[in-house]
Amino acid sequence: MLKTSSIPHSGLSRTDGVLDWLQMLTGAGLVLFMWCHMLLVSSVVISPKLMNAIAYFFEVTYMAQLGGPLIFLAFLFHFALAARKIPFRVEGQKTIWDHAKMLHHRDTWLWVVQAATAMIILILGAIHMWVVLNDLPITAAKSAARMQQTWWFLFYMILLPCVELHVSVGFYRIGVKWGVIKAETRPKAKKFEGWMFGIFMTIGIITLIRFVTLG
Ligand code: HEM
Repeated sequence: MLKTSSIPHSGLSRTDGVLDWLQMLTGAGLVLFMWCHMLLVSSVVISPKLMNAIAYFFEVTYMAQLGGPLIFLAFLFHFALAARKIPFRVEGQKTIWDHAKMLHHRDTWLWVVQAATAMIILILGAIHMWVVLNDLPITAAKSAARMQQTWWFLFYMILLPCVELHVSVGFYRIGVKWGVIKAETRPKAKKFEGWMFGIFMTIGIITLIRFVTLG
C-alpha cells in the first residue's frame, strides 16, 4: 500500500490544508464581525445618541483602538490566503470565465462573484478602515458628514452590495466546503443565503438613508 508520506509534495498539501483552514477561520471571523458591524452602525436608525454611546463604549474599553487594527490585519491576512487561488493573469481569468460559462454551474459563478467582489472590497474596505480609524472618536455626526458628500455616498453604495454579496456567498461556501451543507440541504441553504443578502442590504440602505438625512 502506498504510504501518504511517500507521495511527493505531501508536505506541501498539508501546508495547503492548514492555509485552507486559516482562510476559512479568518473568513468566518470576518463574517461575524461584519454582522456585528452592520448592527452597530445601523443603531443610528434608532437614534444617533445610541450610536454615539456604542462608539464611546468601544473607545473607552480600547476595543476600537486595538480591535480596529486587528480586524484590518485579519482582513489583509484573509485576502493573502485567498489570493493563492485567484488567477491574476489574463489567461487564468479567461479559463475560469470560459469554464463558468460552459458549466452553467451556480457554484462556479458564485466563485467568480467571490473573486470579483474581493478585489473591490480589498481597495474600498482598506480605504474605509484607514479613514475611520484615523478619525476617532466615531460619532454619528462625523459619519453623517462623510456620507453626505457625493463621493463618499457613491463609495458606500459600491462597498455595501459587494460586502453583503461576499459575506452571504462566503457563508454558503464555507458550509458547502466543510460539509455542513449537504446535497439535500443545498436548496434550503441557497434560500437562506438569498435572505441574508436581502436583509443586510435592506438594513444597510436604511442606515445610509438615515445618515444622509441626519441634520
Ligand atoms: C476596522 C473596523 C471598522 C470600523 C471601526 C468601522 C466603522 C464604520 C463606521 C463608523 C461607519 C459609518 C460610516 C462612516 O463613518 O464612514 C461604517 C460604515 C460601513 N462600513 Fe465599516 N468599519 C470597520 C470595518 C469595516 C469593514 C472591514 C468593512 C467591509 C470591508 C466595512 C464596511 C462598511 C460599510 C459597507 C459601511 C456602510 C454601512 C451602511 O450601509 O450604512 N467596515 N463603518
